[in-house]
Amino acid sequence: MKKLQYKFSGKTTTYYFDAGFSHLEKLVDKKTAVLLTDENIFRSHQKKFGGWNTIVIKAGEAFKVQDTINSIIEQLIDLGADRKTFLVGVGGGVVTDITGYAAAVYMRGLSFGFVPTSILAMVDASIGGKNGIDVGVYKNLVGTIRQPDFLLYDMSLLKSLPKEEWIGGFAEIIKHASIRDAALFRELEKNKLSFYQKDNAALAKLIRRNVVIKSTVVQKDEFEKGDRRLLNFGHTLGHAIENLYELSHGQAISIGMAAACMISEELTDFKDTDRVIATLKKYGLPTQAEFDGKEVLNVLRMDKKKERDSMNYVLLNKIGQGVVKSIPIVQLDKLLQSIITAR
Ligand SMILES: NC(=O)c1ccc[n+]([C@@H]2O[C@H](COP(=O)([O-])OP(=O)(O)OC[C@H]3O[C@@H](n4cnc5c(N)ncnc54)[C@H](O)[C@@H]3O)[C@@H](O)[C@H]2O)c1
Ligand SMILES: [Zn+2]
Repeated sequence: MKKLQYKFSGKTTTYYFDAGFSHLEKLVDKKTAVLLTDENIFRSHQKKFGGWNTIVIKAGEAFKVQDTINSIIEQLIDLGADRKTFLVGVGGGVVTDITGYAAAVYMRGLSFGFVPTSILAMVDASIGGKNGIDVGVYKNLVGTIRQPDFLLYDMSLLKSLPKEEWIGGFAEIIKHASIRDAALFRELEKNKLSFYQKDNAALAKLIRRNVVIKSTVVQKDEFEKGDRRLLNFGHTLGHAIENLYELSHGQAISIGMAAACMISEELTDFKDTDRVIATLKKYGLPTQAEFDGKEVLNVLRMDKKKERDSMNYVLLNKIGQGVVKSIPIVQLDKLLQSIITAR
């Protein structure tokens, strides 16, 4: 079995690849562990949950809120969960974020692990220990950083993943390649989504490579003082338009990455915007949208990554080499305005 280990500040996390869901019984005690999942995943893979204590939450970002945590806590009490209870999140990023957070607060902290079921959770959300919930319009406002004991990968779970969720996950994969791995970017340029959907071995390799990229970046900078910020490529503008225009996260960051490439052309030696845009499009992602520049800029000014008069923005020096640059707000306004009107 292919296995990887990453040592983070608080814990060593073990990643099991090609293991299969049934391997979970070797990692935790089936009698006392509690699995947490959402109703879509439960419905699609009901057999796998046979014999396990399971808490099923409603699916979707709208339920990544404190009310869901409260209901989970009540169910944990009903199940007799104590400090030794192991919590396993089986799901997409909503379930893994919620599981990590519930595990952090119940009895001041339970051990937990993940079985990610979406591409996005496999390559992104379940890695790095950030967890949390949304409060009103503020995404991920409340949460902690705490690493899971393990991640168990079962690719067969992806059979039921809707196509738009595959596409959204590939937005993060293209992001990883753009900031860190030129060879991976070339591979993505050559292939297309249906290739990875059909070729299990190629998909497993792709997922592992992305797991390594994110884990390495996080390991070097768990608490986001330096390189971890590279993972925000496309996310600054992305988050602003995601909330304003009801785009999916993948669509929003795809547009954000295209814009960040255009800004890079102005501020670094970057010359490959066309290649990034072509690749995003190839995987079914949008690279432009109609939006109100003023409205977007107002939201951007509220961004967490803003410092007084400037903002840390992730740009590309070249494909495979991301860089964080502090851009004065006045200049950023102008750049974004020209990008928006250029569309
Ligand atoms: N903690 C982090 O570092 C981090 C990083 C990136 C994203 N996130 C969070 O992750 C969340 C997004 O993750 P997501 O895109 O996986 O969302 P999600 O968990 O909502 O899953 C998307 C949809 O796909 C369904 N689904 C998932 N796996 C399935 C499967 N195998 N079969 C059938 N249906 C399946 C879900 O029920 C849901 O309807 C956001 O809340 C985001 O904030 C966290
Ligand atoms: Zn993202």
